[in-house]
Amino acid sequence: MTGWNGLLREYAQWFNLDGVDEFVTLQEGNTPLIHADRLSERLEADVWLKCEGLNPSGSFKDRGMTMAITKAKANGAQRVICGSTGNTSASAAAYAAKAGMDCVVLVPEGKIALGKLAQAMVYGAEVLQIRGNFDQALNLARELTQHMAITIVNSINPDRIEGQKTGAFEIVDVLGNAPDILSIPVGNAGNITAYWRGFTQYHFAGHCSTLPKMWGFQAAGAAPIVLGRPVENPETIATAIRIGNPASWVPALEVIHESLGDIRAVTDDEIIEAYRYVARYESVFCEPASAASVAGILKFGVPKGSTVVCVLTGNGLKDPETAVSTSATPPVIDATIKALLEKLS
Ligand code: F0G
Repeated sequence: MTGWNGLLREYAQWFNLDGVDEFVTLQEGNTPLIHADRLSERLEADVWLKCEGLNPSGSFKDRGMTMAITKAKANGAQRVICGSTGNTSASAAAYAAKAGMDCVVLVPEGKIALGKLAQAMVYGAEVLQIRGNFDQALNLARELTQHMAITIVNSINPDRIEGQKTGAFEIVDVLGNAPDILSIPVGNAGNITAYWRGFTQYHFAGHCSTLPKMWGFQAAGAAPIVLGRPVENPETIATAIRIGNPASWVPALEVIHESLGDIRAVTDDEIIEAYRYVARYESVFCEPASAASVAGILKFGVPKGSTVVCVLTGNGLKDPETAVSTSATPPVIDATIKALLEKLS
């Protein structure tokens, strides 16, 4: 087989694939790393955008899900479950469908972007809306695994982090070294943990001579790690990271410590400004949560001349409501050349 065949095949030597004889893949990974010309100029640095919205289900979750579902299948699982703010559910539903497994997803009622809900439904998952938030949905999914044979595919499943570390591999493969700074949105804190694992494994194997500072960004209304305590009722327009008690809190603190990095907060206004900026000036339409990585470097600045990669974790098309509600309504005109000329003159 020629061409890209999914990250499990491409990076097989970096995983423990004992007992796996069939990959469940949708050819995820190998996403574009686009040079951000305007942001680079504005920040006097070399800024790149890792466009994870171009994965098969439109987010970085596919990197972890190809591994989690492949392993679950190898272990004979027939049913998987996740609690989700939307992207994990879309990805789990897609990969479970590919594997011929049943998928149950628990999402917070009314608090997930419409595109993500649509994905989970159309991929054929059993979608249950919880009267509660993400943290409660995740706890319920965990608890259920003690009552029936069902495999959890949230990032507390170690196979997820293993797959997601490949995002770091790809960045080094393109840049020829690690960036100085890796800027990334933080919700449940699995992805920042996964990227650090990827960078450190590549570093110890001699693929990059340096390691990045890991800069994580939480939404100000859902910033438990920044505050140092769980947030009972997290709120943010960036629903993907509307999380009050991250499962990978401790590993994320270790990442920050080891990399000399930081986790800081950006407000919803800053997120939306960055979200519109990357679309308007870099032509990348990401979802609001993803833009936290760009909002963070705009807010806090970066050292002059440094190489910075912002991970844009999900596709903007997943959340059409936010795109439309933060834009001016397009005017309606008569279908005549006169009206058109009047409008454009
Ligand atoms: N960006 C997007 C678009 C996400 O969907 C998520 C998490 C994150 C960033 C944060 O990543 O949790 O590893 O720190 N979404 C999860 C979900 C919680 O259910 O889809 P994290």
